[in-house]
Amino acid sequence: MNRFTNDIPANLDILGSRLTFNSGKIAANRFLKAALTERLSSYEPSNPTSHGIPSDKLINLYEKWGNGQYGMILTGNVIVDRTNLEFAKNAIIFKEGECEKRREMFKKWAKVTKQDDALAIVQLSHAGRQTPIAVERNPYSASDVQLVTDTPTPAYGKPRALTIQQIKSEVIDRFAYAAKFAYETGFDGVQLHAAHGYLLSQFTSPTTNKRNDHYGGSLENRIRIILEIYDAIRAQVPKDFIVGIKSNSVEFQSGGLTVEDAKEICRKYEKKGFDFVELSGGTYEKLAFHHTRESTKRREAFFLEFAETIRPVFKNTIVYLTGGFRSANAMVEAIESDATQGIGLGRPITSEPDLPKKILSRQVASAPISLLDQSDTWLTVLGSVSQMEQMSRKSLKEADNNVMSEISDFSDPSTIERYLEAVKKFREKGTPSNDMLLFD
Ligand SMILES: Cc1cc2nc3c(=O)[nH]c(=O)nc-3n(C[C@H](O)[C@H](O)[C@H](O)COP(=O)(O)O)c2cc1C
Repeated sequence: MNRFTNDIPANLDILGSRLTFNSGKIAANRFLKAALTERLSSYEPSNPTSHGIPSDKLINLYEKWGNGQYGMILTGNVIVDRTNLEFAKNAIIFKEGECEKRREMFKKWAKVTKQDDALAIVQLSHAGRQTPIAVERNPYSASDVQLVTDTPTPAYGKPRALTIQQIKSEVIDRFAYAAKFAYETGFDGVQLHAAHGYLLSQFTSPTTNKRNDHYGGSLENRIRIILEIYDAIRAQVPKDFIVGIKSNSVEFQSGGLTVEDAKEICRKYEKKGFDFVELSGGTYEKLAFHHTRESTKRREAFFLEFAETIRPVFKNTIVYLTGGFRSANAMVEAIESDATQGIGLGRPITSEPDLPKKILSRQVASAPISLLDQSDTWLTVLGSVSQMEQMSRKSLKEADNNVMSEISDFSDPSTIERYLEAVKKFREKGTPSNDMLLFD
């Protein structure tokens, strides 16, 4: 495998140091497996209450990461309302779908995730207006502002603005129910997904929140729903259950969330007592999982400068930064400069699920290179989804304990050539670009 660099940083040990959360729980090191949507749960249009039950393939996938020595592992987005999915086949927790099988599979999921003592955290999400039209024609949102994108993602319907009563019954109560379910099935905590243009960020962003009641207008009003969800969850779970949040550091859109807004929002999260905030950026209208600024290229992390601006507001809330990290050197530098405390990893760990273990044991100093065009975000997403499907094919035992079993090496030019050929055929069929491409 070709890697970014083989230079091991002098102060590597900092990546192996612990983080203690407000709740008292401890992450054994600085690595965070970021949320990566898996789409490996059931989806049965004829029987919607059976939607979103995790499959054995999903368990196989987390067996690999569960042996990767992360301090914390987030699930991909787990949806709290079966009608407002990010994509068909998301895992879902909803009261109408309560059954033994769902509980059993979530318990298995938590168990395999914690094999080497990672904290297992469910990312709770609600897609709102980013629900594909094939799943729901009129999803909920803060207001009725429809999502229109120029990329070949699925089409999105005209959203309905939630009423005040629905904000409680369809959002707050559902997040609280899902958090309690996560606790009861053995997870250590939850993360609210309030980034990337999903429902909670539809409330925080002025581009999608046009309300004139007490959930719209001022910044205080726009984050009210999130703080109410936090309180509703805390009323349902023990004190040592972790509640974190993924938040945009910036939106890069005219009229969108600025870094100053994000800083103010994070100040309120700190005050509220969130255990951690994971900083990211962008929305479906303006994807940001690549470098948009020359100034941060050398330091790798896409949102580093924004994180540096926001960082001073955090005292007790732990901060993670996700997006762009590829080498141990850049990770160590980001922590030493105090831009962040933890390092979130997404695409590199679908190429190599045990990257943290290899870095901590000084076997490698960086992730494998990906020869996919990094400025084509949907292509890189597709690549990672394909690799996750490959990881899910065999249990660890069936794979002779090899966590790398069946994963395509995207640092290899001939593999990339074959993959791009498969992508061409996939796209010619008109498949949404973030659907799943099966690749051998
Ligand atoms: C295949 C794929 C699926 C993703 N799914 C989610 C998700 O479910 N929830 C989320 O918050 N972010 C999701 N993301 C974003 C990642 O968590 C992460 O923020 C992003 O990939 C940037 O990190 P990286 O440069 O290390 O990949 C996804 C990214 C990819 C590539």
